[in-house]
Amino acid sequence: MPHALIGRLALGVLLHGSGGHWAGWRHPQASLSGQLDYPFHEFLATELERGRIDAIFRPDLLAPWGEGPGLNKGARADHFEPITLLAGLAGATDHIGLVATGSTTYWQAHQLAGRFASLDTVSAGRAGWNIVTSVLPQEAANFGRTPVPHDMRYKLAESCVDEVRTLWEAAHRGRAPGILPPVQEHPVLFQAGASAAGIDFAARYADVVFTDQRDLPGARRFYAEVKERVRAVGRRPEHVQIWPALWPLVTRTEAEAQDHLATLRGLVHEDVARQWLQENLGLDLTGHDLDAPLPEIPPTDRSQSRRELLIRMAREHDFTTRRLAEHFLSGQIVAGTPTQIADHMQEWYEERGADGFMMSFPFLPRPLTDFVDLVVPELWRRGIFPHSYEGSDLRQNLGLPRRALAAGGARA
Ligand SMILES: Cc1cc2nc3c(=O)[nH]c(=O)nc-3n(C[C@H](O)[C@H](O)[C@H](O)COP(=O)(O)O)c2cc1C
Repeated sequence: MPHALIGRLALGVLLHGSGGHWAGWRHPQASLSGQLDYPFHEFLATELERGRIDAIFRPDLLAPWGEGPGLNKGARADHFEPITLLAGLAGATDHIGLVATGSTTYWQAHQLAGRFASLDTVSAGRAGWNIVTSVLPQEAANFGRTPVPHDMRYKLAESCVDEVRTLWEAAHRGRAPGILPPVQEHPVLFQAGASAAGIDFAARYADVVFTDQRDLPGARRFYAEVKERVRAVGRRPEHVQIWPALWPLVTRTEAEAQDHLATLRGLVHEDVARQWLQENLGLDLTGHDLDAPLPEIPPTDRSQSRRELLIRMAREHDFTTRRLAEHFLSGQIVAGTPTQIADHMQEWYEERGADGFMMSFPFLPRPLTDFVDLVVPELWRRGIFPHSYEGSDLRQNLGLPRRALAAGGARA
């Protein structure tokens, strides 16, 4: 029997001021300095709120993404710290959710509990935590640590999140001095695990799982697998939402869509392509001819699901190393008219590939404002996306239940 739909689409936006595509900041229509322009972020946040988007999501790494010549050819090495940025945006907006990334491997549970409780208070109940285990060895080095193996990171994540939740509960009972009682009791928990250990973790802890899915059959398989795991651990499948990544790009014609895609592909500098693949695959590609096929990739402690996806994609399409990077970096773009984009979203939603989407816009600001002006009204007309924020906090707006620990520590 198919799982019940959650009643309407949920929409989040992953915000890099430089645009979602790695070469987005170089697009002729992009804001070149967007990454470190705070007023620009306020403008984008208020635009998203005008479109009743559920949440802004701020990704984060605890070290620059790689090193070497690619670093200064991307626009992401310098960035705002997520909780600081979102606390600022809380003052510029009234309803939109504010989801910050926080590492369970390198941050202490007490810090995490305190910071997210504080963000929840400053924003009057709009905080979310994107739980990450931090895959890069450079992140470990920045904390004076050696990298932690993949499955061990998830074990640490379990004990960290248990501790954070216990602290939030204690704060509500006045027993965690220095930690504010979060307005939502528990800020909304986001997670993106896609390996076996990652899915297991998500099924037990997440309210929202976001995921990188490239086609509807794959998205449906992932959706069914996660919902089944959720049921198996005694939670209700509709209490865990699944949001695949989606990069909408409104265009009037097919030619315009192809033109944007070719421009973005052509703007991926080869140093960036090389570095991006190196970091994802945990492999040194210095001196490797990018026009040759991908070399053998030994298993590493980086993202397992990302590695498998890249290897499969290279094999299926017989890509050179360069084409693989270019293809992967543009692969979540859905370009088309507002009707075509809404059709895509509705199909994935109704076919149980998605409860919502974690969107990003390849460059900024035009694709974002086009989405708000042209696609959101189409979703409203179809009755699959709400017109206004109905709840008083993020959890309510997403239709998620409260998650207090039951007596004895069993998770709701
Ligand atoms: C859309 C998206 C955004 C992500 N953002 C971050 C991030 O900001 N910081 C981070 O350390 N990991 C981020 N990740 C990586 C995940 O936290 C996780 O490591 C990844 O999905 C691999 O999980 P796996 O090892 O279970 O396959 C992101 C993943 C996805 C799909």
